[in-house]
Amino acid sequence: MKLLEVKNLKVFFPIKDKLFGKPTKFVKAVNNVSFEVEKGEIFSIVGESGSGKSTIALALMGIHERNGGSIIFNGAEVNQEDFKTLRRKIQIVFQDPDSSLDPRKRIKEIIAEGLRVHRVGDKAFIDEKVRDIVEKVGLTVDTLRKYPHELSGGQKQRVGIARALVLEPELIILDEPTASLDVSIQAQILNLLVDLQEALGLTYILITHDLKLVEHISDRTLVMYLGKVMEMGETKQIMNKPLHPYTKALIDSVPVPNPEKRNENEEILTGEIPSPLNPPEGCPFKTRCKYRMELCSKEPKSIKLENRVVFCHLYESKNLEV
Ligand SMILES: Nc1ncnc2c1ncn2[C@@H]1O[C@H](COP(=O)(O)OP(=O)(O)OP(=O)(O)O)[C@@H](O)[C@H]1O
Ligand SMILES: [Mg+2]
Repeated sequence: MKLLEVKNLKVFFPIKDKLFGKPTKFVKAVNNVSFEVEKGEIFSIVGESGSGKSTIALALMGIHERNGGSIIFNGAEVNQEDFKTLRRKIQIVFQDPDSSLDPRKRIKEIIAEGLRVHRVGDKAFIDEKVRDIVEKVGLTVDTLRKYPHELSGGQKQRVGIARALVLEPELIILDEPTASLDVSIQAQILNLLVDLQEALGLTYILITHDLKLVEHISDRTLVMYLGKVMEMGETKQIMNKPLHPYTKALIDSVPVPNPEKRNENEEILTGEIPSPLNPPEGCPFKTRCKYRMELCSKEPKSIKLENRVVFCHLYESKNLEV
């Protein structure tokens, strides 16, 4: 069953010339992005820095107003004013627990805040719920008395997860949930997230740079570049046989223990990402793509191929087998 449908989502940020000048340009951070998330799945969004991943997350939370497109949650169209009530159902875990946890509040207050804001139950109910959730994320009840600075990075991220889970949301967005943690702690937090997903039947949108992680835990993947979709489909298929040259380059660019053993067919990403203020016309990847052809100055269409969606002229013209 579909939990979320995003259709032609657009989020543009105005750039002002002078301090109070009129916006003259826009960063098209998310430009015509469509995808669906099934109940109970882990759906990944990957792409280099600045591709628009977090902007999608913030638009789904209602934090960024969208400039176009629709968001349908549980079959119902979501307007900007609906986000107040939807906040309970869609929660987010941010990358950096240090900046997302209020340093002046005790852990108990931080976790209970959502329940209070949404007036869920009386004090006894909230106390019970908070104790229950803190144990579910692998912390002891005495953590509740502490302040964020008294906890380790991993413990703080567990609090971030508890805070998201306490409202029993239907969708949890994980925006680089382990990127700020020590490598040794990353695996623990990931295992916790996977265990919770299985035990509670949760649905995740996982935003990450880490393709190994995506391959390991996610069902389907959306590959983004400069605000646009490049390819989307089942994670296994995408990883085993990427269709879009960008996806292939992204996969080939994952560091390997022994770089000398790289296969000569690998296409490591080179060159800079163009400025988002002045993206290439047509396919945004054309300036870095070795298959570039004249057609690429035109907007690629959405092509359904091998059980996935790919935006690339190579398949439109069928000039080349990749
Ligand atoms: N509030 C904002 N105002 C202006 N531009 C913004 C704003 N937020 C994001 N952008 C721009 O939108 C584009 C997409 O940013 P976004 O943070 O969504 O990328 P990302 O894929 O999450 O990158 P990262 O992997 O570095 O987190 C970037 O060019 C960024 O500079
Ligand atoms: Mg981001």
